[in-house]
Amino acid sequence: MTAALLDEFKDAMAALAGGVCVVTALDDDGNPRGYAATSVTSVSMRPPLLLVCQAKTSSSYRLFSRCTHFGVNVLTAEQAELAALFATPGADRFGGTGFETGEHGTLLHPDALASVECRRRETVDAGDHGLLLGEVCAAHTRPGDPLVYHGRRYQRVRPLFRR
Ligand SMILES: Cc1cc2nc3c(=O)[nH]c(=O)nc-3n(C[C@H](O)[C@H](O)[C@H](O)COP(=O)(O)O)c2cc1C
Repeated sequence: MTAALLDEFKDAMAALAGGVCVVTALDDDGNPRGYAATSVTSVSMRPPLLLVCQAKTSSSYRLFSRCTHFGVNVLTAEQAELAALFATPGADRFGGTGFETGEHGTLLHPDALASVECRRRETVDAGDHGLLLGEVCAAHTRPGDPLVYHGRRYQRVRPLFRR
């Protein structure tokens, strides 16, 4: 792959608007870990499967690649600062941010637009990332506006028109 193609690929992916999530898990000592992610997608309905892509350079990669459960918090437009915190290396990401433990032991934010708890099924090797395939154990949603990342900026969705 040439440097020019890599830049073009990055620009193309910056054009793809993505909902911003915080993915969480507990480490072996019960400490909360998590990072901001847009690479989250549904995979299957029966059974309900979800996919998360994580960079192998992430400080929590080893944990996520072998955890039993992980949580996905779909953020609201009011949670851009929380997203930025979870993308800041070395930051205290859980102190005072209000995460709570879900019924399957994952960390969920009570203000998130949606909270999904997954049992990790498999981690698939994919270049410099790993794909975490999770089976959905529980999912909850709340009303609100989504936080979107597009053009390397946090954005809010604007409705076009009503049918
Ligand atoms: C909007 C946004 C989306 C991101 N999406 C992902 C993603 O899908 N996968 C990933 O591995 N990192 C993603 N990142 C980068 C990580 O959140 C960031 O590198 C974080 O610091 C990694 O955790 P660590 O500091 O503990 O290594 C994203 C960052 C931002 C700001």
